[in-house]
Amino acid sequence: MLRAKGFLAAELFWANQDGPLAGWAALAAFPIDPAGNACWQLTGQRAIPPGATHLYARCVAQDLLSAEEVWTEIPAGFRPEPRSAETAVRFLLMSDLHLSSNPGRVLRALRTAELPVLLCGDLTNDGREEQFRLFQRCIETAAPGRLVLPVAGNHDRLLCPEGDVQDHYQGFQRWALERAQALGCRVWQHPSGAYRALWQGVEILGLQCVAPGRRFGLREGGQPGWLERCLAESPAGAWRLILCHAPLLAHNPHRKDGPPYFAGDGELQGILDRSQRLLFLSGHTHCSPNLPGGGAEWDPESRRGYLDDGSVVPTELAGEPLMPSDWKDGAGMELSLTEDGVEIRARSIHSGAYYPRGYYRFEGGSVGLTEGQRRKNAESAKRVHPPQPAGGERV
Ligand SMILES: [Fe+2]
Repeated sequence: MLRAKGFLAAELFWANQDGPLAGWAALAAFPIDPAGNACWQLTGQRAIPPGATHLYARCVAQDLLSAEEVWTEIPAGFRPEPRSAETAVRFLLMSDLHLSSNPGRVLRALRTAELPVLLCGDLTNDGREEQFRLFQRCIETAAPGRLVLPVAGNHDRLLCPEGDVQDHYQGFQRWALERAQALGCRVWQHPSGAYRALWQGVEILGLQCVAPGRRFGLREGGQPGWLERCLAESPAGAWRLILCHAPLLAHNPHRKDGPPYFAGDGELQGILDRSQRLLFLSGHTHCSPNLPGGGAEWDPESRRGYLDDGSVVPTELAGEPLMPSDWKDGAGMELSLTEDGVEIRARSIHSGAYYPRGYYRFEGGSVGLTEGQRRKNAESAKRVHPPQPAGGERV
């Protein structure tokens, strides 16, 4: 609650004693009523970023020419404890890059952070061969030596076959998975095009929810059964990241009713509901991480999370009277997985600034793991040739 008589509007930031946290965008912007009052609430499951000790408001006077600042201290019990990043496995997550012919945005996006990259589909705008060739060149230029794992979005499939050619995405994925293998990632591809990849003890399961011809559906090729077997076989306590272009209906930040995006939504949800310690990562909605409801959900008991990663093209933003223009920037997300939880940081691919509304810190990753299980997981992560999941083909 803010009281500032004589002022028209305020912009809110996480701060320390010196002012707004450097490198972080605004947390909120809202009008102040004629009595000088404003009230705003942080919703969703967002967290307070490390280093924040204060909440800071810049209030704009009604002459629109001057502003005043005000700080308030965050009560000690609410300030985040710094988390050791030494053992974290980190990724840069993005989707919906919609590469057409100008590679500038894709190059900038890949350079957002020097981390292994997970791409949740709509890499290209039309699924054309020359667009995938350009995307490959972008990866070679902006992410040499870095892991890049994609799944297909609807825009990565051709709308109409080009002569005998149904699809160019499959060739691109083959290239990406062979490259991943050369970088030390172990990869197995299922005949459906889904794949399992192991990177630093983290299991990445790529689902293909859009078939050639832009047909949404997950049942094709037996992906649900394959996924269930992979989840059952992965080491107890290992993090599982599931990549799927479209979100599940129950975890869609865009809408919670109407038809699901793809056939097999309910079956996939049932499989996830029987699993633990996983993050379901999706794109497709183009929703801004700054939307009031947020794009991440986490259930600490089952240790299951769902994350919509926004889009690299300008995001969809609505719902508040005042919204800073940088909230609409294309966004990427940094994931940091540790034994005991996950940290998510959304950031603008233009300015590099982190979005406070895209900051999440979920705890409870390894609760219930015995010392024996931890040891077993560590050994399994070291194994050179892990057992191949049923129906899998090593790339
Ligand atoms: Fe898209």
